[in-house]
Amino acid sequence: MLVSAKEMLEKAKEGQYAVGQFNINNLEWTKAVLKAAQECNSPVILGVSEGAGKYMTGFKTVAAMVKAMLEEMKITVPVALHLDHGTYEGCYKCIEAGFSSIMFDGSHYSIEENVEKTRELVKICNEKGLSLEAEVGSIGGEEDGVVGMGECADPNECKAIADLGVSMLAAGIGNIHGKYPANWPGLRFDVLDAIQQKTGKMPLVLHGGTGIPADMIKKAISLGVAKINVNTECQLVFAEATRKYIEAGKDLEGKGFDPRKLLAPGTDAIVEIVKEKMELFGSVGKA
Ligand code: 13P
Repeated sequence: MLVSAKEMLEKAKEGQYAVGQFNINNLEWTKAVLKAAQECNSPVILGVSEGAGKYMTGFKTVAAMVKAMLEEMKITVPVALHLDHGTYEGCYKCIEAGFSSIMFDGSHYSIEENVEKTRELVKICNEKGLSLEAEVGSIGGEEDGVVGMGECADPNECKAIADLGVSMLAAGIGNIHGKYPANWPGLRFDVLDAIQQKTGKMPLVLHGGTGIPADMIKKAISLGVAKINVNTECQLVFAEATRKYIEAGKDLEGKGFDPRKLLAPGTDAIVEIVKEKMELFGSVGKA
């Protein structure tokens, strides 16, 4: 059964570890992340961006697939199905489709509008027992080949949003989606520290988990980060393992073209990287 992310994140914040959010793209991705979580006895959050939801033909398909997989794979660890960077409309669609958690990314609205829309969603999520992630400050990333550094969150704005009763808060602290450029100055721990001081027990979310060095991850957890999002890294290891298979000519040997064989090395590579991250985040054995 899917669960809200609220309880697992409160436990993580208190226990000073982080729960990983791994974004899913298809059946293989989902299966790999669930397998890793079960083998590590770790809670897990499956992230679905609006684009990935569309790719999988819609949020209803995703919710049905994930729910069935939990049963068929006999998954016993806590699993949340979470909309990643949702639009206002996307949030409503996922609530209807049966997601157990949503993120409303209102960071591009004025703080007043972000507060208003988040307030409304807090009420609905509370009624339905879903967890809600809000965002303040933007997460940088690549757009049309240009890497934006994002905007650091204002700790007072973080407090205003946290006080609305969201379950978790994503704050821009110099983190970026995708690969980090060579001249990246690193995470702004001073900002993170100030945010935690204002928001207290609120579990904080670190987006752009790909490529953040282990020591920075550990420091971020010590300053209140209880959820870390990883997407690109799974894509990179999947692509690399698949390329190796093809380059070795394995698809040309026997029935090597069978998708169940062709996609296996990439899928196994996702299982391995997710396990590594769970180890690093400290969530192993915390189910
Ligand atoms: P990466 O793709 O950089 O790992 O970021 C994932 C993320 O933050 C999803 O919201």
